[in-house]
Amino acid sequence: MKDGKHITMGIESSCDETAIAVLADGREILSNVISSQIEIHKEYGGVVPEIASRHHLNNIPFVFDNALKEAGVSLSEIDEIGVTAGPGLAGALLMGTAFAKAVAFAAGIPLVGVHHIQSHILANTIEHPELEPPFLALVVSGGHTHLIEVLGYNEFKVLGATRDDAVGEAYDKVARVIGLGYPGGPKVDRLAKEGNPHAVEFKRVYLEKDSLDFSFSGTKTGVINYLHSAEQRGETVKPADIAASFQQAVIEVIVSKSMTALDRTGYEGLAVCGGVACNSALRAAMAEALSERGKKLWIPSPILCTDNGAMVAAAAFRKAREGHYASGRLDVFPGLNIETQLGKLEE
Ligand code: KG4
Ligand code: ZN
Repeated sequence: MKDGKHITMGIESSCDETAIAVLADGREILSNVISSQIEIHKEYGGVVPEIASRHHLNNIPFVFDNALKEAGVSLSEIDEIGVTAGPGLAGALLMGTAFAKAVAFAAGIPLVGVHHIQSHILANTIEHPELEPPFLALVVSGGHTHLIEVLGYNEFKVLGATRDDAVGEAYDKVARVIGLGYPGGPKVDRLAKEGNPHAVEFKRVYLEKDSLDFSFSGTKTGVINYLHSAEQRGETVKPADIAASFQQAVIEVIVSKSMTALDRTGYEGLAVCGGVACNSALRAAMAEALSERGKKLWIPSPILCTDNGAMVAAAAFRKAREGHYASGRLDVFPGLNIETQLGKLEE
């Protein structure tokens, strides 16, 4: 298949998806195999780290074989293997990195350690060839909520981050209290379509004037308290109204802070990414706010928003082009900082 193309494999196992993809020239998706553990963790109401690691271990060889088969490439045609080395669950990260190191060593393929948030951001470069640093990115996922200046493919400046819950985490908790189960984000999204977003005015938390940090735990607690009081008073609540009102509150804050960051930095648009970027109300609100300002919106297709191997390959491709390879001693870093990742991943 090679045809003079540069082939990158990306391996992701930081949370509950075992995912491996093969990309040509950093953009063309030859395969993107994702084995989700949602059904397994569902009965516990969230991801159980120990169980996640065990399933990664069992699934990786099968996902790897399928990724190669679907791509129609052989191992000897791969130019580099990228693997998520952090942040994430330590045991889960270890499964992906141990596998990647073994394959890279056995087949003599260069190895690249990838930062999970960097890969979410660079997922945008797969479908949007015109997007090049510097640009502004909003990361909204289960573990992270960040406004980041992407100064180069490997250079990041965090402008704001959540001080408590990540937005996806708040979605998942709210879903649980209104009885929707795990994973909550997509279920809240669906149910909210039938509800009134102004039925309950939940708290919007903006923190200090000028702050680009986020805080969602107050809004989440507001939902829990509202439900408890209604229960005590014997009132019935409409779950769709709660879902829509919660969503409205967090989206207003996210959009407002993103616009402040954009006004302050002056970039021509915003690249949105992470699992919560699948959310239909957020996508619509962001598109509207940006078009009012004459700014651009870059956002991946939903399959590239949630955890996947293609985004890891896209980031590994960029890292390799700038010479940022890992050694065979690549470690895992559950709390890896995006601004200082390079030194750690190249030791
Ligand atoms: O990026 P991701 O797959 O994993 C992390 O890096 O955390 O994000 C997963 C998060 C979960 O919290 C999930 O509930 C949320 O993304 N999510 C959504 C939607 N689809 C996934 N949240 C809101 N609306 C959605 N449609
Ligand atoms: Zn993620």
